[in-house]
Amino acid sequence: MILTFELSGEHETLPKSEVLACMRALGIEHRVAKSGEQCLMLDIKDDSVKISRILATRLAMTHRIISGIFECGISESDILKSARDAEIRVPSGETFGVRVKQIPRSYLSSTDLERRIGEVIFEHNPGSRVNLKDPDHSFRLLVTNRSCTFGEVLASVDRKQFWERKPHKKPFFYPGTILPEVSRAIVNLCEIRSNDLILDPFCGTGGILVEAGMIGARVIGIDVQESMLHGAEMNLRDYGSEYHVLCGDACNLPIADHSVDAVVTDPPYGRSAVVVAESVESLYMGALFEIYRVLKRGRYAVVISDFELSGAGDAGFAVTGRHAQRVHRSLTRYVVVLRK
Ligand SMILES: C[S@@+](CC[C@H](N)C(=O)[O-])C[C@H]1O[C@@H](n2cnc3c(N)ncnc32)[C@H](O)[C@@H]1O
Repeated sequence: MILTFELSGEHETLPKSEVLACMRALGIEHRVAKSGEQCLMLDIKDDSVKISRILATRLAMTHRIISGIFECGISESDILKSARDAEIRVPSGETFGVRVKQIPRSYLSSTDLERRIGEVIFEHNPGSRVNLKDPDHSFRLLVTNRSCTFGEVLASVDRKQFWERKPHKKPFFYPGTILPEVSRAIVNLCEIRSNDLILDPFCGTGGILVEAGMIGARVIGIDVQESMLHGAEMNLRDYGSEYHVLCGDACNLPIADHSVDAVVTDPPYGRSAVVVAESVESLYMGALFEIYRVLKRGRYAVVISDFELSGAGDAGFAVTGRHAQRVHRSLTRYVVVLRK
């Protein structure tokens, strides 16, 4: 069974890596059938509806998960022929809607295509009715510049929740905190499983840990500033996470060797956030050695920085992923995935 992930366009590589990391974390056997712009198609064996619903509660950078009904070329005649040939079933008395998304926009008229595909579905299912607002069956055609994929929406990611958890809406706010959707995506890159223990040794206001807690992890936050820890506690308590916060130095962690399942962190870059160390370089190197020490073997750390973090190998890590994100003219952020 093919599952199509309609990805957000906010980053080129993170949305795909997030999906694949979640598949591995949940132990779902899969094969990449196709990978295109804002679209990833996976071939899976298990129950696709159940899997889609579980994934939709975890993912941040996906809009929808769609079943694969047909694939075709991008001409209108190709699309309509494929729709006529396909088995698109809507039980009698139930409603359906068709939406078209073009990535990027093409010469096709989306509303015209929606209507014409709707007519084909209705011809095949005369007992059905159209409802565009809240249909029982929501069909979606994704048109990219090389091909089209059509299917039924099995699950949608509630992206509004991330907007509702924006840093300034939380009980404690401090500038420089990364957005919740980015925090959630990088937590997912660590392939965590429910009840895993996650550490953020530069936790600040606890934004990353809030997202980890929301997908069932137990979390530990460390920061050198008491005032930040107080704020992190206010935020973590507000979202019901199982948490511990400790005042300490990321270069000398009060944590046992090989004891945490994942580390996700956004250390200071030496621009605005407080740096308690001789230099930013010594802070990163000291913290990397400590993160390596406390992490369990075979598990992942994700570290954000404004440089490529090439010293991670000296601490013992293998770099398994690197995602560059241009924040503004003078800041490119790197999300680096490290495996112990
Ligand atoms: C960029 S902020 C983290 C932002 C965080 N992701 C959030 O959601 O608010 C970096 C944090 O590192 C802390 N910090 C600086 N030096 C440290 C050190 N040596 N050990 C631990 N924390 C340190 C700062 O107090 C600051 O809160």
